[in-house]
Amino acid sequence: MIKLDNNLQTTHLSAANIFILTEWDPTQHSFSNDIIRFIESKSETKSDELIEVLILDQYTALYFCSNDKDNNRRIEKCRRAGDKIQQKVLELKIKTTIIHSTSLLKNETLAFAEGIMLGAYQFIPFQSDKTKKQHPLETIIIQNVAIGQTETEKLSNTIKSVYLCRDLVNLPVNHLNTVKLADRLTEMAKACGLGIEILNKKQIESLRMGGLLTVNYGSVDPPVFIILEFKPKHSMNKQPIVLVGKGITYDTGGLNLKTGNFMDDMKLDMGGAAAVATSLQNIALNNIPLHVIALIPATDNRPNGNAMVSGDVITMFDGTTVEVLNTDAEGRLILADALAWAKQYNPMLVIDMATLTGAAARAIGSHGIVAMQQNASQFLEMLKQAGDQTNEKIAEFPFWEDYDNQIKSEIADLKNIGGVEAGAITAGKFLAHFTNYPYIHLDIAGPVFLNKRDSYRCSGATGVGVRILSRMAELLAQ
Ligand code: BES
Ligand code: ZN
Ligand code: ZN
Repeated sequence: MIKLDNNLQTTHLSAANIFILTEWDPTQHSFSNDIIRFIESKSETKSDELIEVLILDQYTALYFCSNDKDNNRRIEKCRRAGDKIQQKVLELKIKTTIIHSTSLLKNETLAFAEGIMLGAYQFIPFQSDKTKKQHPLETIIIQNVAIGQTETEKLSNTIKSVYLCRDLVNLPVNHLNTVKLADRLTEMAKACGLGIEILNKKQIESLRMGGLLTVNYGSVDPPVFIILEFKPKHSMNKQPIVLVGKGITYDTGGLNLKTGNFMDDMKLDMGGAAAVATSLQNIALNNIPLHVIALIPATDNRPNGNAMVSGDVITMFDGTTVEVLNTDAEGRLILADALAWAKQYNPMLVIDMATLTGAAARAIGSHGIVAMQQNASQFLEMLKQAGDQTNEKIAEFPFWEDYDNQIKSEIADLKNIGGVEAGAITAGKFLAHFTNYPYIHLDIAGPVFLNKRDSYRCSGATGVGVRILSRMAELLAQ
């Protein structure tokens, strides 16, 4: 929990005091001369430097803010320093930390708290001895008169949403199939005042959503199509923003079965769905005056007697025919139906978020999100800004017409693979076929899940997408 308390006496209150400084003024702190000498000897440059002092059982850290002129980079350094403190807090079993900023740095202080909280995430539902593993940190108290209650609440909401996103992605499919995903999102929607509608298999059949139905043929669980809506009274937009998330609860590849260890992490394949749903939660909790709709087509992708085969020709929701030439390119099939469905809202902008291609991950690794746009260049500029501010950075790929030929089929309107070259782009091109509005495609295959811990992004699900989309919503509402 993050609290604000500017009436506390800073020193000797908690087992972990953190001072965020731009300048070092020893007279401001009640340290002994020995400690002051120690601090001064430790740091020459005092830029992005964390100095830790343990006095009896009182843990104190001084963080000298980076003097990097680039705002976003400086803030990111604060998040990462926050995670370092979090690791110490874990080691020393500290329950409360106080963050005190002598120079009243607002964004830096909040970023520090953000780094602590995001880094403190744990996924322990399957540990037998949970109490032993539980993170000790209960409260972060922020002392900074430049920061108000609304800002700390907003940060708490965002952390809550990222945590939920990570939980949903980390849960394996035997604990979170389509039905349970729908239940969890219903629970979430009720708690934060979102509208929710869940189309069941019968409805999806009568709507003839051929992409979603075909991918689902090999599954024992039914498909679901989830519609979430946040419609505040005084929204800034007449036409809604629509977010679409890929909800493959597990991707075996289907009959084009994934080989080696390529299947191991494929519970991550609903990372887009989790991100758009929890972004809506965050937008609702923070009451951002924007009309936003989220669409989540969900199923797993498995081989079975009834599963789609390579060579099948299917008819999509909008009537487009598609030759399936690889059952592992399933994400685009379910997303296409949702993108075509989105036309009825006459949207101002549609953004899809999907763990769509290994090619995107190979191209830029886990450090950013691959993006393409059609008739939405200004919106993408805004999204890049949101990405830089949250460090969920955007790398824009070309989206030239030249690629269109790669997904043309000999016997149908489209085929679902585009050859070895430019795999992330041809996947995007396939999706764009089903749109007639300003459109941004985001491929999060790289950053969605980490096998090795990276600071506050943790290991396993990172919750990528929630912070950039929430920030984008704020920018759009301004
Ligand atoms: N879910 C995968 C993409 C993926 C791979 C996400 C690795 C995260 C990490 C997707 O459904 C897939 O299998 N894509 C294929 C497409 C190919 C058959 C055209 C791929 O990328 O290999
Ligand atoms: Zn696949
Ligand atoms: Zn997939």
